[in-house]
Amino acid sequence: MKHISKDAYIDTSSSLVLTLSNEAREKKAKGIKVIDATIGMLLDDEGKLSSFPLMNKALKDAVTLDNRKYSTVRGNALFHKNLINWIFKENPKGINKYEYAVCASMGGSGALTLAVRNYVDKSKELLIPDIGWGNYSALAVECGRTVEKYPLFKNNKLDINGIKESILKSAKKNKRVTLIINDPCHNPSGYSLNKKEWEELVNFFNKVNKQYPLTLILDVAYMDYSHDSRIYFKTIEKIKAQYLTLVAFSASKTLSVYGMRLGALIALGNKEDIEDFKLCSAATSRAIWSSPSAYLISAFNIALGDKKVYPAFEKYRLSQTKLLENRFKQTRKFFDKLIKSETLPYKEGFFLTYKVKNANKLADSLKKKNIYVLPMQDKYIRIAICSLTNLK
Ligand SMILES: Cc1ncc(COP(=O)(O)O)c(C=O)c1O
Repeated sequence: MKHISKDAYIDTSSSLVLTLSNEAREKKAKGIKVIDATIGMLLDDEGKLSSFPLMNKALKDAVTLDNRKYSTVRGNALFHKNLINWIFKENPKGINKYEYAVCASMGGSGALTLAVRNYVDKSKELLIPDIGWGNYSALAVECGRTVEKYPLFKNNKLDINGIKESILKSAKKNKRVTLIINDPCHNPSGYSLNKKEWEELVNFFNKVNKQYPLTLILDVAYMDYSHDSRIYFKTIEKIKAQYLTLVAFSASKTLSVYGMRLGALIALGNKEDIEDFKLCSAATSRAIWSSPSAYLISAFNIALGDKKVYPAFEKYRLSQTKLLENRFKQTRKFFDKLIKSETLPYKEGFFLTYKVKNANKLADSLKKKNIYVLPMQDKYIRIAICSLTNLK
């Protein structure tokens, strides 16, 4: 007799990356030389997790009895203020044109869940890129929404016309449209939109929003690894955006606290939308994880609460982008010989992706040589250059 519900969610396909990375780790522990290009965590040249020294100190300072208490459901006001300063540091003017609110979450995944549950109607579709983070689809389907994909690239360039067509189609069909754009440092291509591309899209979103409500979920998980990390916000400062923007922030990558789980969803819009956001994000958060980590919120406030530390973070950040640039060069040198094909248009970030035939078969044959990569849709091989420390 089976007890599992007929409605249980058992599609584990988006967990392949974790399975492969565990397998690689187990082999390493047995002393086997493994090249593990699966998981999106930035390691330093010694193979240890790269981390911002002031955050390491803050994590120690935040070990207090007080931080064992429950946090408020959306996280405290100080965290909201500090995060807003952090995200908009280069252009505080842009944010002043909007009403805004913040809800802390369990990582960037939690922020995306808050957005999808509350800004896509049940059984209706969320628009996601045809090549993207594997978990978008899983988190939408798990909460009873469907996904439709927009073409991200054509001839290795951003497919702006394809994106526009998909948005119009989805808007007409659903009488509203909600889409995810992962920028900068898109996972898995490493592409970042330039200013012109953002301006064209923002203008188009405004036009669509005159007829149908348009919600942009901007996944900025890798924002601090981009050379010009806040282009989107500079663009909406210039072009007054009318649609709703939900920014999904992940502390996992920015502050190397992957397994500790801190993120936040920030809403930018008009007064009415922001009042709705405060209610629905608090209700969803309470229902799913009850309250975020008081400890991590406190560590964030200690590490980044004073704008005087921004130059030190900028210095750290630049050293990390430099590290990734070197990794990129080593990766191309090593993998171009093994995977003789073109890559998606890489600019920066944690991942590089090759376009191949029979990706699953190729990944399997590399695995036999103890080289672990992530096959995607049987036509891409993703290389996590961020964790490749032993190619030299
Ligand atoms: C594109 C993208 N968005 C969001 C996330 C989720 O981040 P977190 O680990 O903070 O939940 C990831 C994690 O790998 C990601 O690659």
